[in-house]
Parts: sequence; structure tokens; C-alpha cells
Amino acid sequence: MYYSDDLIEEIRSRNDIVDVVSSYVKLQKKGSTYFGLCPFHSEKSPSFSVTPSKQMYYCFGCGAGGNAYTFIMKYENYSFTEAVKVLADRAGIALPEGGYSEEDKRRADLKNRLLEANKEAAKYYYHILKSERGAQGYEYLRNRGLSDETITGFGLGFSTNYSNDLYDYLKSKGFEDNVLKEAGLFNYSEKKVYDKFSGRVMFPIMDVNNRVIGFGGRVMGDAQPKYLNSPETILFDKSRNLYGLNIARNSRKEYMLICEGYMDVISLHQAGFNNAVASLGTAYTLRQAALIKRYVDSVYLTYDSDGAGVKAALRAIPISKEAGLSTKVINMKPYKDPDEFIKALGADEYEKRIKNARNSFLFEIDKMREETDINDPDMKSRFYRSVAKKLLEFSDELERNVYIDAVCEEYMLPKDSLIKTLGKLSLTISEEDLKNLNPVKKEEYKKTKEDGTAMALKTLLTWLIDDASIYPKIKGIIKKEDFVSPMYYQVADMLFDQLEAGEINPAKIINHFENSDEQSEIAGLFSSPISDEMTKDEREKVLNDILYNVKKNSIDYRSREITDIALLQQIIKEQNELSKIHITLS
Ligand code: UTP
Ligand code: MN
Repeated sequence: MYYSDDLIEEIRSRNDIVDVVSSYVKLQKKGSTYFGLCPFHSEKSPSFSVTPSKQMYYCFGCGAGGNAYTFIMKYENYSFTEAVKVLADRAGIALPEGGYSEEDKRRADLKNRLLEANKEAAKYYYHILKSERGAQGYEYLRNRGLSDETITGFGLGFSTNYSNDLYDYLKSKGFEDNVLKEAGLFNYSEKKVYDKFSGRVMFPIMDVNNRVIGFGGRVMGDAQPKYLNSPETILFDKSRNLYGLNIARNSRKEYMLICEGYMDVISLHQAGFNNAVASLGTAYTLRQAALIKRYVDSVYLTYDSDGAGVKAALRAIPISKEAGLSTKVINMKPYKDPDEFIKALGADEYEKRIKNARNSFLFEIDKMREETDINDPDMKSRFYRSVAKKLLEFSDELERNVYIDAVCEEYMLPKDSLIKTLGKLSLTISEEDLKNLNPVKKEEYKKTKEDGTAMALKTLLTWLIDDASIYPKIKGIIKKEDFVSPMYYQVADMLFDQLEAGEINPAKIINHFENSDEQSEIAGLFSSPISDEMTKDEREKVLNDILYNVKKNSIDYRSREITDIALLQQIIKEQNELSKIHITLS
């Protein structure tokens, strides 16, 4: 962190966490806490909490948590420095010059310069396309059915055959070689610099804020490779962006169409489907799915109809599912892809295909069925078992029943025997299998395994924050040193100081951790669920158990590394006092 701690804290304290989160998530007040649907995982009922008194958020479902900084960083995918800027702006606080470290500043400057270079390059390519020198590219795009409006809307362009045009242009605009080297637009040989995309029509790739972060370029004939793409740069992380998302995010439709290629997106938009996006020449990733989930709850895969497209769809389905997107698959046959489909049959027919899209589960079964020779009893029963196994992926019984009905009807399978197979299978299925089945289950499984001591440490921290009157009582018993993990120790260290000073400020503690996983974990520490329904006696009992547990663990831990006799005596003393630990709550 390169701004002073005081400034960072000042900015944080002047941005109320409820206000900050409310601009992204709809919150509802329940008692002293606000709840909403977690923006970081998919859920139907709210487990995402924002607590004004702690100035923290925490999701009981996925464990995401932190303070206002953490939230902005995670939601907007910002660096800490960027989050400081946003929140300072929001609170009307001017940031001092030179608040950056050298390295941070260099990176931020380079990023800005690269954005400028990309923007200039896109403008240049567009300008060329519209000039005489770009006639060939312009013809090509028009021949592929794109209107002038579409060409302008997507900022398409052309890179001439003269292999250093763009380079000369950007140099004349004052861009430095060290910047241009990082831009991924050129190939540097010993003697000369070549425009990497020369002789191609250009597709600028924009992030959700309409900033050009990279390019795709297509040859106009049959040469290979058909498309060239910018390499990953500090601006361009392919797995985090989707082509067309800058427009699709504002389409106000309830779903997005996911396709494979640049031209598919563009054709679909031109035909009125401005909710189409494409993963960028790479396989669809969980990050991309999560990005989509910020805007919509369901997607339609509109991939190529060939074997590769089917394979890509089968890969994409579980990814979408994991991100919490309900998924359907659109059939493009007999055409190759959405671009060709639209050109041949038009928007109305495509709309019909959307309506008839196949539920992703049934699509998966379809493909399994296609690979089965139903006349071969062996294969037939294997198919049968695979269907049953897939049905077990539904943890919700109601949902599973709906699918059992659907599968039986579609494939004319006898329902009672399928249910029997299901029953047998669910008995023989091992815990290991179960974990592999469903990513959500896997998480649940991990959570229950959290060990008792960590839980005790967590609960103690939560209680201390919620009820400072406990502190004087435990002070003589528990020391900071009893928090034996380094992170818990740091937290306890700061919290005990705050308790001594009578100013509890959990969000401030989070400031001291830079890593967002740590921040989430600490927000978790401060948010262990406490049941309001516990009676005083129950609370007392639990608290004493916790104290015992924490102390005992600390003694065990320290006794492993005793180095001198004084320490040993100390430990023996503590051990003897262990059984005497008892506090009473007022
Ligand atoms: P396709 O080969 O299906 O091309 O690649 P397409 O979208 O139908 O392209 P047109 O219609 O012939 O122009 C799908 C996507 O895969 C990436 C591109 O993003 C492309 O849009 N791709 C393909 C590459 O990155 N490089 C390649 O050489 C080919
Ligand atoms: Mn195509």
C-alpha cells in the first residue's frame, strides 16, 4: 500500500459500505444488517450480508467478504490503487500526487499509454478502411453483408499491406518504442518493425467500458491463420473479456447469446440480437461465465453446428452451470454458424431457433444417445446408467424429478426401472464420486471440514466485535499469542489494541491485508454466524468451550517448540490453569 494508512482509512471511513454496495446490489434491511443476493456467486435467496456497524460485507454462501475496498476491487476487477481512486472520488477527497510506488506508477502509466495506443490504432484502421487504401477490406466486409452502420458501430478497420504503416503513424503521434513493444501490434525484427496484422480486416476488442484492449484480424482469403489475435498484454486478459459484451450488457434482455466468432456476434447484432457475445478465440472460461452472470441469469449457446461446436457446447455447459447460469443450446443446422444462418434464413427464423433451444441437460443426454448403438444391449445399459448418473447431479429433488419425467418421455425409458437404477446408483456412489459430481457440493463439503480450532478462533473474534463487554473478562485468559496462525494473530493484535482503546473498527483491520483472499477470510472471521436464539446460559457455555479450545490449542502448539526452561514452566502453569477457565456473562 502506497498511500498513507491514515489516508486509506480516511477514504474508507467516508464511504459508507451500505451506500457503496447498494449501487451494485439491491439490499434489504433485516434488523441491524442488510441482505441481498450475492454478486459473487449464484443464489436464489440472499445470503450476502452488509453490516453497517462493522462496515463490512460477508457472504455466508460463498465466503466472499471484506470492506468497501475489497468490494470495489472484486466487483470491478480493480487493483487496490484503482479502488482507492474510485472511493476517494466518491467521497470528494483529493489524492496527493506521488501516492503511487514507482512500480505501481510505471504500470499505471504504461496501461494508460497502451490504451491510448490501442485507441489510436483502432481509429487509424477505421480511417484506412474508409479511405481508398482500404477499399479491398471495405469490399470484403460489405460482401459479407455488413452495413455501414454496423461497420462503424463495431469500429471495424483495415490494416494495409504496407508492413509498417501503423508503426510509422503511431511513432509520428509520439508513442515511444517501449510502449509500442508492449502493445502486441507489431513484430520486432533486428532491423525493422512490422505491423503484425498487415493485410487483414480488423476487429477491435473492447472491454465493458468501451476501451480498446486488443484486436482480432481476419485475412480476406483462405490463407492461414484465418484470424490473428492480439497476444495477452497487461490490458488484455482473454479469459476475463467477451467480444461484444460492451454492447450486450446494455441490451436489457434477460439472457445472452454466446457464440464462437467475431462475425457471429456482429451478424447477430446487425439482425437485432444485440445480446450476443463471443469468447475470444479461446475456450469459454468460468471467469467469462461469472462476468456474464453479473448481467443476466441465463445464456443460450449458439455454437457452430460441426463436431467442434458440439464439443465446445458440451464443455461450456458445466462451466455455465457452475457460474449459476441456466443454459440452453441453439441448433444452427443445416448452417455452419449463426452468421451463415442469419444470412440464409433471417432474424425471424433465428428467433424461432431461440424459442426451440434445447435444455442443456437434455442436450447432453442427446449427445450421449447419439453415441449409443441402441441395438447393442451392452451399450444400451451403459447409456441407461449414464443417464441415471447424470440425473444424480441434481441435488434438488424436485428439479431431478422434473428431469426424470422429461428424460423418460423423450427417450421412452421405463420410469420405474430408471428410478430403481437411480436408487441403486445413489447407494453405491462413493463420497469421492459425489464430490466430483457437483462443484457446489464440493464447496459444501470443504466447509464442513473446517477444523474446530479455526472455528473457535473465528467465533471468539466475532463475539469480541459484537459484544465488547466480553473483552475485560477474557483479557486475563486469552493473549494475542494464543491466536497461533499468523493471520489470526495479526487480526487479534489489531483488534485487541482497538478494544483497549474502546474503538472497534473491523473494516480498518481489513485495510491491513492486501490480498483479497485474506480480506475475504477476515471478513469471515468477523462474521461467524451467531445464533440470536441462544440463551445467556448457552452463550456462556459456548464461550467457555471456545476459550478452553483456543487456549488448549495454543498450549499444544507452543509446547512443540519449547526452547528454554522458563518457557516450559510457563506452559506447565498454563496447562494447570486450563481446567479452571471459567467466565460468567453479565
Ligand atoms: P471459425 O473458424 O468458426 O470462424 O472461428 P468464423 O467465426 O466462422 O469466421 P468467419 O465467418 O470465417 O470469418 C471462430 C472464432 O475462433 C477464433 C476467432 O475468434 C473466430 O471468430 N479463431 C478462429 C482464431 O482466433 N484464429 C483462427 O485462426 C480461427
Ligand atoms: Mn463464420
